[in-house]
Amino acid sequence: MKITIIGAGYVGLVSSACFAELGNHVVCVERDALRVAQLQSGEVPLHEPGLQELVARNLAAGRLAFATDVALGVRHAQVLFIAVGTPMAADGSADLTQVLEVAHAVGRHVSRFLVVANKSTVPVGTAQRVHDAIAQGLAARQLARVPAFAVASNPEFLKEGAAVEDFMRPDRVVIGVPEGRAGERAAGLLRRAYAPFNRNRERMVVMDVKSAELAKYAANALLATKISFMNDMAALADAVGADIEQVRRGIGSDRRIGYDFIYAGLGYGGSCFPKDVAALCHTARGAGQRLRVVEAVQAVNDAQAGRFVQRLLQHFGGSLAGRVIALWGLTFKPGTDDVREAPSRILVRRLVAAGARVQAHDPLVHSLEQLMAGDPPARRARLAPHVAFCAGPLQAAQGADALVIATEWKIYRSPDFAALRRALRAPVIFDGRNLFDPAELGRQGFFYQGVGRGQR
Ligand SMILES: NC(=O)c1ccc[n+]([C@@H]2O[C@H](COP(=O)([O-])OP(=O)(O)OC[C@H]3O[C@@H](n4cnc5c(N)ncnc54)[C@H](O)[C@@H]3O)[C@@H](O)[C@H]2O)c1
Repeated sequence: MKITIIGAGYVGLVSSACFAELGNHVVCVERDALRVAQLQSGEVPLHEPGLQELVARNLAAGRLAFATDVALGVRHAQVLFIAVGTPMAADGSADLTQVLEVAHAVGRHVSRFLVVANKSTVPVGTAQRVHDAIAQGLAARQLARVPAFAVASNPEFLKEGAAVEDFMRPDRVVIGVPEGRAGERAAGLLRRAYAPFNRNRERMVVMDVKSAELAKYAANALLATKISFMNDMAALADAVGADIEQVRRGIGSDRRIGYDFIYAGLGYGGSCFPKDVAALCHTARGAGQRLRVVEAVQAVNDAQAGRFVQRLLQHFGGSLAGRVIALWGLTFKPGTDDVREAPSRILVRRLVAAGARVQAHDPLVHSLEQLMAGDPPARRARLAPHVAFCAGPLQAAQGADALVIATEWKIYRSPDFAALRRALRAPVIFDGRNLFDPAELGRQGFFYQGVGRGQR
């Protein structure tokens, strides 16, 4: 099939490479010319296991092309997927500027039947807005024969760090199509595009457009709920002297609950959960509803990293002036280079504000520009003298008054504790990811605080 994907970010690039790998002819349109040039030379600007090989192979085979020209992409496609950003606007809603820009471009250039499928996470009603924008563009062209088109919803559920694997072996493919002939044609073409994923079992879940749009938010909000629930429970565990890790093991074995997403920690971050939870609450308010559970999920999460820093401050008598803090892990989760809304960003700001010098290590983040991307340069410049990036975990710990763990990368899970104790100025660990057994760390001579491990 001839497929166009607009946006070469985590979702767009992975979708492009995977669809090409399945034998389709894919044009991936990206407005960032530098990124397009990198991709055309086979350089993949983001970290996703397996992606580099897929891009190289399909570029070489001529099944994958990158372009900045959206007109070319529109002319190429039978199905055009929108995979551009939908960041959080100031009022918490999803900013649809990028999505609607694409819709207007489609209206300007479409010349035969086209399915426009939205992979970006967008609020209920966006497909209709995309439809209207395309129709407006078409009307302005005063064509003798107006081409038909359909706007479908195809929310993406891949996880960063396992995006290729998730895309190639989805749990389900949700498709929302409009009623009528164009909707039927859209469903048919999308079924064809996804047919290779259904060999083992039927994975397509076809529904109406609004339900598909809401399904994506419902999924993310439910996962975020599990995390905030456990963080709330962790605060209670601390207050009553229970250990949230024991609680986790005690409940995860129940198949109705499961082990996933029930870790207490620093709260959820990343480019999806925070903005999607906020946007869902915004949608609900706009519809005259309040999602009280989801609002609470957000409130618990907003407070979580701050509570953790408060603990650390308490330990040091309220000030970190003159203290050195080692920080292990900066990405919002292991396996990705993404630092958007990472709790580590809050930690770095708060630690520096409290007077500390931070010695950081992360396998994939090596500079303040990378960590604080998107921040105004002046803000970064204020932090710069107080944050050093170290080549390894032990170097980061060297001479530090405490070690803080913010991301559960595998390389942090079995440290040489004797070497770590020697490197640190004081054997103090604040573990935001509950990697270790408090009793064992006590035996090893550490003062160890996790999240919800029963410390008052
Ligand atoms: N990252 C994830 O794990 C994930 C998972 C599921 C869904 N989503 C959703 O998918 C969407 C994309 O997420 P992402 O993480 O890939 O974003 P991203 O920011 O990594 O990538 C978006 C890309 O689109 C490009 N772009 C924007 N407007 C464009 C235009 N008019 N023409 C061409 N290119 C344009 C940007 O330059 C950028 O490279 C978001 O709505 C997000 O919520 C993301």
